[in-house]
Amino acid sequence: MISVNADEPPTYVWHLPRGFPTPLVPADNPMSVAKVALGKRLFFDSRLSLTSTYSCASCHDPARAFTDARALAVGATGQVLNRNAMALVNVAYNVSYGWSNVKVKTLEAQMHQPLFNVHPLEMGLAGREASVVKILSADTDYIDAFRASFPDEPSISIANMIRAIACYERTLISGNSPFDRYVFNGEHDAINDSAKRGMKLFYSSRLGCANCHAGFNFTGTAVYDGHTVAAAAFARNGVGSQSMRVPTLRNIALTAPYMHDGRYKNLDAVITHYETATTTTKADKKLRKFKLTSDERQALLAFLESLTDDEFIRTNRVQ
Ligand code: HEC
Ligand code: HEC
Repeated sequence: MISVNADEPPTYVWHLPRGFPTPLVPADNPMSVAKVALGKRLFFDSRLSLTSTYSCASCHDPARAFTDARALAVGATGQVLNRNAMALVNVAYNVSYGWSNVKVKTLEAQMHQPLFNVHPLEMGLAGREASVVKILSADTDYIDAFRASFPDEPSISIANMIRAIACYERTLISGNSPFDRYVFNGEHDAINDSAKRGMKLFYSSRLGCANCHAGFNFTGTAVYDGHTVAAAAFARNGVGSQSMRVPTLRNIALTAPYMHDGRYKNLDAVITHYETATTTTKADKKLRKFKLTSDERQALLAFLESLTDDEFIRTNRVQ
């Protein structure tokens, strides 16, 4: 498990749910226990923002599977973004980051957006890099944590701050929902009969949900150790005319409101949308036209709710 060669950093041990592949990690940012702990602290540190009141967690609240309950996210100075804050669930496996950006391929690269964006401003770090480094360097806990995380680089830097937060994000792995216990652990009673009927509907050709929300992360495609893909799965699901990345549905019951613009308040409204999504402009061919009975609708909702991983929420709760 832990390597004994003193010249090599100890191997990081992933604690992965059954059926989950090992995440692919950039060569210049290997995982370590020290970096994950440091990244977690930084993720919740509001001193990184212009106003000292905003952290990553202000828009990515662990209790809501790292979303913010808003239709559109709001930055540190009150500016409204044009997008709904995404859940941070199994992001280690994403092929690209963001609702519609195909070019952002790593968590390290993604972070430039919230940290440095100006129009609209999210955390407002641009132009304040030196003063944030100064703040962190005045904190002895951070000095120790950066040293333990980056033993070859004595001074604190924004680049290493980003590396540490990315390491923490890669540990946000959710795969112990009732659905997982039913499917991967063979626990027959982990989900009730209604959820089982809903699962059949979800995977049926009549509804076609899994035409897009496929695979262990419901994202269509995923990247992991030994397996890379050129592009994430994008589709037009009838919400706007632009293709969007197919989002995960894990912990979906916790992340309302829904879609890239937060237009739907609850999952019931999402289902209603899909019943007629084929009639929308430029609708994707993978969409199906269907009408659910009220029992079927309850069943599909029960299935979506069975994707909530209480352990994930509990272990990531802010202490
Ligand atoms: C002002 C609110 C806000 C803050 C603060 C914020 N985010 Fe986000 N985050 C968003 C929004 C909105 C999106 C979707 C962006 C898009 O698609 O353009 C997002 C998307 C992401 C994604 C992409 C997830 C995916 O599945 O593609 C990651 C990763 C992420 N944020 C991490 C962070 C980190 C790390 C921080 C702190 C350094 C942070 N965010 C701060 C609002 C915020
Ligand atoms: C053609 C591909 C496709 C099909 C088929 C499809 N989806 Fe989606 N789904 C998407 C895309 C793309 C989005 C994000 C769209 C956006 O935000 O504009 C999405 C978003 C969602 C969301 C909201 C996610 C969030 O984080 O806000 C839910 C819930 C959802 N889909 C459930 C379903 C269900 C249930 C079905 C079957 C009835 C289904 N989807 C069928 C592609 C698809």
